Amino acid sequence: MMLVSRVPATTANLGVGFDTLGLALKLYNTFEVKISHLDNIEVVGEGKEELVKRENNSFIKTIEYFYRLHNMTPPHLVIKISSNIPICRGLGSSASAIVAGLMVANALTGKNLPKEVLLKYAVELERHPDNVTPAMLGGCTISLVSNGEIIVKKIPFPEEIAIIVAVPQFNVETELSRKLIPDCVSLDTTIRGLAKMGMFVTSLLTKDFKHLPIILDDELHEPYRANYIPNYKKIKEELISSGALGVMISGSGPSMVILSERDKVKQLKEDIKAVLFRNNIVSKVFDLEIDNEGALLEVKECIT
Ligand code: HSE
Repeated sequence: MMLVSRVPATTANLGVGFDTLGLALKLYNTFEVKISHLDNIEVVGEGKEELVKRENNSFIKTIEYFYRLHNMTPPHLVIKISSNIPICRGLGSSASAIVAGLMVANALTGKNLPKEVLLKYAVELERHPDNVTPAMLGGCTISLVSNGEIIVKKIPFPEEIAIIVAVPQFNVETELSRKLIPDCVSLDTTIRGLAKMGMFVTSLLTKDFKHLPIILDDELHEPYRANYIPNYKKIKEELISSGALGVMISGSGPSMVILSERDKVKQLKEDIKAVLFRNNIVSKVFDLEIDNEGALLEVKECIT
């Protein structure tokens, strides 16, 4: 028997929803697992040199965590990871490994826990819910962790908005990127943050995209993380002038997400490439559709 889990990339925060909003994207990591008499791991794609080391591999660590939690010993596993989500770029590669590890361990142990319980474990491991929730459930999600309970609501994301992603060549560690953010903010900043978050969700629900560039101008994390991206503020202003509906740092960065009306995507991608080139930021720029399925697990019969 072989287990195959496919988990989408995610963009967390969506600008003004720090640690709460997230969106699943149609770019996938796939994890294939077979019980064997010896351990083996093969990684193809993004970050293969790092991920092949067990101590750096969140997928393996998550499987071990699940077994420990249930006082069980993991079997030897032959693992193949097809890694398509860029590593440490703010697109949820670690969330995908955690979510897949839980889905696979859940099946291997025969626990068959529902996704809601697995999500609770995922949040414990990732420590914030905004990436693991859309990775697990798909779509655009808003998550609240309250007294150990995780409440999730799905927000219908308007089809009229396209998602463009710019992935710089350099990477940023999430932990390091979180340390830049101050623990306290003023009441004024909090009030503007509440208004912006409420207005963003309302804009999505009512498909009223007027004022989005202003609404999406985050003050909680972006001003600090912007230091990682040379001339981020100027780049953002230029892209807004080119017609972007919003420009944001994806998760903890350094990738950027640009929201665009569908008919402007082609031109905007050219403008993004040009502005990043002018600022010496070597990047890959592509558009991605939204994933609405979330993490999948398939059980396959093995021929060998
Ligand atoms: N909300 C998190 C952050 C996402 O911005 O640090 C990173 O995974």
